[in-house]
Amino acid sequence: MVAPNSPAWRALLAHRDLIAHRHLRDFFAADPQRFAQMSLQLDGLLADFSKQRVDTRAMQLLIELANAADLVGWRDRLFAGDKINVSEDRAVLHPALRHLGLDAFPSPERDVMPEVRAVREQMRVFSDKLRAGLWRGFSGEAIRDVVNIGIGGSDLGPKMVVRALSAYGRAGLRMHFVSNLDSAHLGHLLDVLDPRSTLFVVASKTFTTQETMLNAHTAREWLCAAAGVNAARALPLHFVAVTSAVDKAAEFGLPLANVFRMWVWVGGRYSLWSAVGLPIALAIGMSGFERLLAGGQTMDKHFRDAPFERNLPVLMALIGIWNTNFLGAGTSAVLPYHEALRFLPSFLQQLEMESNGKTVGRDGQPLACQANPIVWGEIGSNGQHAFFQLLHQGGWLVPCDFIASAQSDYPLPGHQAPLMANLLAQSAALAFGKTEAEASAELRAAGVPPEQATALLPHKVFAGNQPSTTIILPRIDPHSLGMLLALYEHKVFVQGVVWGINSFDQWGVELGKQLAGRLLPALKGESEAEGLDQSTRALIAWCREHGDF
Ligand code: F6P
Repeated sequence: MVAPNSPAWRALLAHRDLIAHRHLRDFFAADPQRFAQMSLQLDGLLADFSKQRVDTRAMQLLIELANAADLVGWRDRLFAGDKINVSEDRAVLHPALRHLGLDAFPSPERDVMPEVRAVREQMRVFSDKLRAGLWRGFSGEAIRDVVNIGIGGSDLGPKMVVRALSAYGRAGLRMHFVSNLDSAHLGHLLDVLDPRSTLFVVASKTFTTQETMLNAHTAREWLCAAAGVNAARALPLHFVAVTSAVDKAAEFGLPLANVFRMWVWVGGRYSLWSAVGLPIALAIGMSGFERLLAGGQTMDKHFRDAPFERNLPVLMALIGIWNTNFLGAGTSAVLPYHEALRFLPSFLQQLEMESNGKTVGRDGQPLACQANPIVWGEIGSNGQHAFFQLLHQGGWLVPCDFIASAQSDYPLPGHQAPLMANLLAQSAALAFGKTEAEASAELRAAGVPPEQATALLPHKVFAGNQPSTTIILPRIDPHSLGMLLALYEHKVFVQGVVWGINSFDQWGVELGKQLAGRLLPALKGESEAEGLDQSTRALIAWCREHGDF
């Protein structure tokens, strides 16, 4: 990482001290060209950074910080297929998954494209057949419901994209996503599904994840019970797997033809571009899926080629670092003003927090600064009527990403303009607020009696100065969405480079998994709760007394 005592970091601290007191109102008043200078377009995607609390000098210094972290070198290593995931000794090649050229990638010597293309072809054949109603279940019925069983990266990406692109879906084919261990998740669905026309996609890179495997086994029992004497024949007609553990899928009972391969060089949270995206191809067709890949590839090219001053992921990442490490924001909000992007906040939570939610650098040394902020969010307009009060007057610094599309895919008359008016109003209100003088003038103009106006005045003042970025896509179509998702992926990568983090491992999720394995026998009464802490022992005893295991 670039150490906080390095010249690049110290120059930023000094500049922060110079400008931190400045209000966004001052930044705009000082520069009539601010929007033009601080917004960028790529293939119809507009990103407006002008409501961030940076000036030109801050951006120059942030770019110097990126240079000091050798961002160019790390970016080259990523695209060269070097093993930059050092703790797992793996390359990081998700850009290969959206590489659509006929040439080798990452290089002729390490070319992974033949196997990537082979899996794409397998996806095309399968999704064409199923969507045409020619993939039939054990009783000869066409598939009408597809259930993806997976969790984390094997759930959030495809679920988010399928929802986002539902306007492009095929009528009559319903997509479902089951992730939770809680039987209420799968149970509710099995209550209403018809086993004769249901296909399960078991998505798990490792094919060992407890939640996924338990749900997959329960679904298999449900199917086999319904198929009766046809159970053995039914399994390959109603189950396919997406995994890098082909042998484990075979143990589950699936023939090789039903297994869609992924590779160890794809991280779970970067895997929607792989066969983990099979539900996307089933929902919108393989050609739609390839338009999503093309959008991702457009962003890859931009990230590789554009100078840092005009490079969307680099600018987004550096502004995030400014907000976290120099202005002290501990959180950031994702606020999509689009119903189709309902699952984007949870997708980005995994992408950002599982990648960079760390305090140890890739060299094994403690980080000398805070890394990823807490990411959270909700779609507008709902968030406005829930937690925006805190954003406006709660006193916390919460940088926000507002995301929208210029056009709607569901053109009910009269909705799009008010939706966008609300987004623009919120970002402006957060940035500029309302001064005491403005609030007082408003109260006077409204004829509020002076005594009452004095009492109300403190409640009517908005501090503003809440930074935000606004991203407007032309519409939520496969290509634009692909660009948006790759934009966030590369943003995370750039931040990892500056913080000195390996963004592609996730050791922090292991402890809870290990402990759950130890606690299960005690909870079921098969072993004593030896060696556990007092609170956990008491809770186990309580659960055993009151629960049904
Ligand atoms: O536990 C975290 C995690 O490993 C994520 O990184 C991953 O996306 C998820 O679990 C699911 O893993 P798998 O695809 O192997 O089932």
